[in-house]
Amino acid sequence: DKAGHKHFMAKEIAEQPAVIGEALSRYLTTDGEIMLPDPGLDFTKLDRITMVACGTAFYACLTAKYWFEQIARLPVEVDVASEFRYREPPISDRTMALFVSQSGETADTLAALRYCAGKADLIASVVNVTESSIARESNLALPIHAGVEVGVASTKAFTCQLTVLFLMVLKAAVDRGAITKEELADYVSGLRSMPSLINTALEQNGALRDEAYKLSSARDVLFLGRGAMFPLALEGALKLKEISYIHAEAYASGELKHGPIALIDENVPVVVMAPNDALFDKTVSNMQEVMARKGKVILISDRAGLDAESEGTWGQIEMPPVADALAPILYAIPAQLLAYHTAIAKGTDVDQPRNLAKSVTVE
Ligand code: M6R
Repeated sequence: DKAGHKHFMAKEIAEQPAVIGEALSRYLTTDGEIMLPDPGLDFTKLDRITMVACGTAFYACLTAKYWFEQIARLPVEVDVASEFRYREPPISDRTMALFVSQSGETADTLAALRYCAGKADLIASVVNVTESSIARESNLALPIHAGVEVGVASTKAFTCQLTVLFLMVLKAAVDRGAITKEELADYVSGLRSMPSLINTALEQNGALRDEAYKLSSARDVLFLGRGAMFPLALEGALKLKEISYIHAEAYASGELKHGPIALIDENVPVVVMAPNDALFDKTVSNMQEVMARKGKVILISDRAGLDAESEGTWGQIEMPPVADALAPILYAIPAQLLAYHTAIAKGTDVDQPRNLAKSVTVE
């Protein structure tokens, strides 16, 4: 049932405020304490986390690496499951192996989990389908409470994965004494404001449709972001190629001049994900390098960022201001809607894109 929407993807994008609210209510007490199901996680005895996943779930892991390292001061490795499983990486008994999967049935992710069993201190997973193989074979499986996701392009599962991973990061930061009570309270209140911020972001639907229409005639599109917005750029590019079949790539903004800038001309639109955070000026200077080569930039930022830097850009999308750390959750919305409307403009099959399956249960 598409609940009045044209596609499951549109319905699932629209559900995000509600399902993120649901996930938060499952993991936060009214006093703002983090509750995780038993066996409760103890981050004090860990040296590192190894995170493994595929596709969009892999980008959720990459985002969480920035969070775990910056907020909880805990080193994290992230790998795509198909590479991890055959590399035979050494796993110490002070490592938590953490698997992220919407379906819980992805063959490579499951094989990577089985490789780590008996080696890592703990096998944990973040899943949507709780009666899945990955959930069953984990010591601790944390549900994301996104509800059934039908669209092949993952949307609400991604933002719910990010939400649950952020809660794990806060638990790790508390266990390791990396944040004060006040900082914890600030992060928690930031999380609690996500559903309403996402509602505000969803109001940009019309503006995103207009930008998507412009993108729909492009052959190639680049996405740029810095810090935790780099994985978001990767996710935006994946969404666009999956459902619109436009070739899209993402780069860390700082990597541009190490090669990709050679691609820039007036035919290559560049989507820049730049919340007005500590790295904003750096990202903007990369954006200006693109515009100096006639690249057409769509800048996604907040009012202050757009007021300061949108001159000369091809398109602008306004997001509400958000706590720096939580920007990846919010900026997922314009990434999803850009891909969605580009696919509509091109007339491709949004919910069942060619060559793809919702759950990849074979290698
Ligand atoms: O079920 P999983 O989360 O393990 O699936 C992983 C990927 O196959 C999945 O995220 C895929 O990349 C999506 N089609 C992305 O939209």
